[in-house]
Amino acid sequence: MSTTLITGANRGLGLEFARQYAADGWDVIATCRNPEKSEELQQLRRENNKVSLQALDVASGKSVAALALGGRPVDLLILNSAIYTRNGNKIGEIDYDAWREANETNLMGAVRVAEALLENVVASKRKQIAAISTGMASMQALKATFSFGAVYQYRTSKAALNMAMSILAKELEPRGVSVVIFDPGWVQTDMGGANAALTPQESIGGMRRVLAGDPMSLAGKFVGYDGGTRPW
Ligand SMILES: NC(=O)c1ccc[n+]([C@@H]2O[C@H](COP(=O)([O-])OP(=O)(O)OC[C@H]3O[C@@H](n4cnc5c(N)ncnc54)[C@H](OP(=O)(O)O)[C@@H]3O)[C@@H](O)[C@H]2O)c1
Repeated sequence: MSTTLITGANRGLGLEFARQYAADGWDVIATCRNPEKSEELQQLRRENNKVSLQALDVASGKSVAALALGGRPVDLLILNSAIYTRNGNKIGEIDYDAWREANETNLMGAVRVAEALLENVVASKRKQIAAISTGMASMQALKATFSFGAVYQYRTSKAALNMAMSILAKELEPRGVSVVIFDPGWVQTDMGGANAALTPQESIGGMRRVLAGDPMSLAGKFVGYDGGTRPW
């Protein structure tokens, strides 16, 4: 049976990934900063003995290095953790410390986890890495609409994530590892807010359908939860 490891699995899209893959019979390694404080994950583990919980702060090199997987294969590594800061994002008000934190989590956090778990992914059958990005990282989308506002910290950290994951896809293709970048859509979570267009069930259901195909057909692509190609 296949194994997935998910970052930021305690709420929002990460939790829904954990729920859906667990319901589908996968082994799920659900990671988050404070597993003992996540009632939803504790409950999921009680309901399903294929779910295990591990502490992981993607912004901390020490925490990532302490992740205890041994040589366990990871078929699908889901780099989901991110922060979206609403303040300090307009010119004249830029919060540089918050911007650094956004890069530490959204950009370097994802690369750090992928680097640390690369051999676990290589040892698996599927050999797939999915990075959760956003349509807000797209240059084309920014030209078309400014409806979400400036949001320097989040947009640039995710645009850089797209480049980092595109490079990773190139680096890892010779080893048979597929790296795909997702736009999950605008989803009802703490980050997306209650007015978002999609439920977590719809977004994750869509991404899981896309991920179920041949991993290599997705390598290096920026795709939506609906499977459509997204512009850079
Ligand atoms: N919701 C949307 O509309 C939307 C749209 C486009 C893209 N996305 C992307 O989808 C992904 C999931 O978003 P979401 O809507 O589920 O957001 P969310 O509800 O705000 O959840 C974010 C998750 O990231 C975790 N996280 C933050 N910093 C972390 C760190 N240093 N180490 C480990 N985990 C950390 C949070 O953990 P804590 O509980 O410990 O803070 C939480 O589990 C993100 O990459 C986001 O950018 C979301």
